[in-house]
Amino acid sequence: MARRVAFVNNKGGVGKTTTTVRLAEALAKEGKRVLVVDMDPQGNASTFLGWTWDPTQHQPTISEAIQAATEGAARAVVQPIGWDAPYAERIALAPATLDLESRMSEAGLSGAWRRLDMALEGVDDTFDYTLIDCQPSVFHLTQLALAAAHDVVIVTEADIYSVEAAKRIHTFVTQRAPKDLANPTLAVRGVIISALTNTLLQAEQRDSIRRIFGDLVWEPSVKLRTTLAEANTDALPLTDSRVADSRATYELLAQAFLKAVPTP
Ligand SMILES: Nc1ncnc2c1ncn2[C@@H]1O[C@H](COP(=O)(O)OP(=O)(O)O)[C@@H](O)[C@H]1O
Ligand SMILES: [Mg+2]
Repeated sequence: MARRVAFVNNKGGVGKTTTTVRLAEALAKEGKRVLVVDMDPQGNASTFLGWTWDPTQHQPTISEAIQAATEGAARAVVQPIGWDAPYAERIALAPATLDLESRMSEAGLSGAWRRLDMALEGVDDTFDYTLIDCQPSVFHLTQLALAAAHDVVIVTEADIYSVEAAKRIHTFVTQRAPKDLANPTLAVRGVIISALTNTLLQAEQRDSIRRIFGDLVWEPSVKLRTTLAEANTDALPLTDSRVADSRATYELLAQAFLKAVPTP
């Protein structure tokens, strides 16, 4: 089974999706086989990876696999990504569209929180890692991810509201998930600081993150770079020289990832 890692924060816009996608990229360059599971109905991870939704076609998404409530249902939705890069063949995607919102209504059904875990059963055996991009809430969709995951990485900006949200999700993962989601071995393995700028305020917040999370904070922090945001929007891998700086950052973070979340 692949090692399943959920990328979380209880706040939106802090870099969860960018981190998921760019770590998938850096790990694939290291030769790892990576499955990205998009668990946000906004579908940004799917878009960043070059997957396009065509409403005139039937394109299976993770929503259907969860709805199926059967073991291995995700097999039918795993597909190649749209990037033109030599390592892209080592990344696969279980995409999401707005339809994933429909799964929220199943939250009250008995055992529904286990449905992603069931859907992935046996499906990610051929991958080294399954990276799950979560939405900002701690409700059903994130709980599906946390029930299926082995490890958690928190992504935060160096900003007080992001840090407060990071603390909330840390508490949720460490105190609620073991009992509520029957996942006693789930652990937070890292904290990544995203979109860092050179201001005094951000430096203070970064120090505060280091005080709160200690050794869990991975280095380096990701700097704010318009070119990175553009690569996301244009659904491009980080192969261009204009994104060399961001590329190098994610390569180093991938090393921190491999140390904190090793595969056998
Ligand atoms: N280091 C960065 N520098 C500049 N823009 C960034 C950076 N990281 C993310 N972004 C952009 O910020 C926005 C929010 O990032 P995203 O990864 O989607 O956050 P989340 O998944 O937490 O909502 C996106 O438009 C993304 O392209
Ligand atoms: Mg996102």
